[in-house]
Amino acid sequence: MAFPATRLRRLRSTAPLRALVRETSLQASDLILPVFVEAGLDGRTAIEAMPGVERLSISQAVEEAGAAAALGLPGVLLFGIPAHKDPEGTGAYDDEGIVQLATRAIKEAHPGLLVLTDVCLCEYTDHGHCGLLGPDGAVDNDPSVELIARTAVSQARAGADAVAPSDMMDGRVQAIREALDEEGLTDTPIIAYSAKFASAFYGPFRDAAGSAPAFGDRRGYQLDPANADEAVREALQDVDEGADMVMVKPALPYLDVVRAVKEATRLPVAAYNVSGEYAMVKAAAATGHLDERTAVLEALTAIRRAGADVVITYHAKDAAQWLQQ
Ligand code: PBG
Repeated sequence: MAFPATRLRRLRSTAPLRALVRETSLQASDLILPVFVEAGLDGRTAIEAMPGVERLSISQAVEEAGAAAALGLPGVLLFGIPAHKDPEGTGAYDDEGIVQLATRAIKEAHPGLLVLTDVCLCEYTDHGHCGLLGPDGAVDNDPSVELIARTAVSQARAGADAVAPSDMMDGRVQAIREALDEEGLTDTPIIAYSAKFASAFYGPFRDAAGSAPAFGDRRGYQLDPANADEAVREALQDVDEGADMVMVKPALPYLDVVRAVKEATRLPVAAYNVSGEYAMVKAAAATGHLDERTAVLEALTAIRRAGADVVITYHAKDAAQWLQQ
């Protein structure tokens, strides 16, 4: 029926009516907080481009995890900054490595909080790439996959509730599944960063984690930002290899991909609202050009509307607080 019989504004006219017909919900229980843990650190160190985000010592990470739990967040995603980096990224699969130690400490203090761990070598290699380098200087897929699987097993043994490979090597989900199962870790889920794009929006994270590649870039293994069909193929392949959840990253410039991956896989989908997305909002809020609270809640709702079940975001604690009010 056409106007004037139909007036779409009717259902927008009061707050209770708007609430009644709202299609997308946003709750603290949808949000995961990324946490940076640094070996040998005493206390907390600020990250310049990411106001409100800090690198933490293990005891501070335990405290941060407690704060996340108190706000109703279901879990944290751990990133480690090791004391020592080398070409093989040995710190990643060291049973006494920074993420393994932090995982044990957090699970002991807050057993009900999910500890998810990022599985990658880039924070642990001195060259900053996500795997082992071959003689030609390119990342060598198959030997890297072996180390990635070792890393996942080591983290799961330390108590990680799920492992999240972000390296974008081919075949790593299958290798991780087999390695976990061999260790009897058959119930540890894999959250695959399936559609991870070679993005400029990771800039602040690389400063935070000290993981910028020493030479070249990640375009030889991360997805081309122009490709959505290929992103869906990556996700479907990860599903075939045994992924329990799939992820799209970054989030806001890739909402079409979130939707396409959700429709193709029908798995729980996570979207990672990355460091650069966070830094943009914080910078604009600091100058007064954006209202931070409204902008953040709008952006997170939009990511959910696109099809994300879970949003990984540095805004998680603030958002949880705002959603309580
Ligand atoms: C790789 C990894 C990256 C991020 C998460 N895992 C960076 C990269 O690929 O360079 C980026 C997260 C962010 O920007 O917030 N281990």
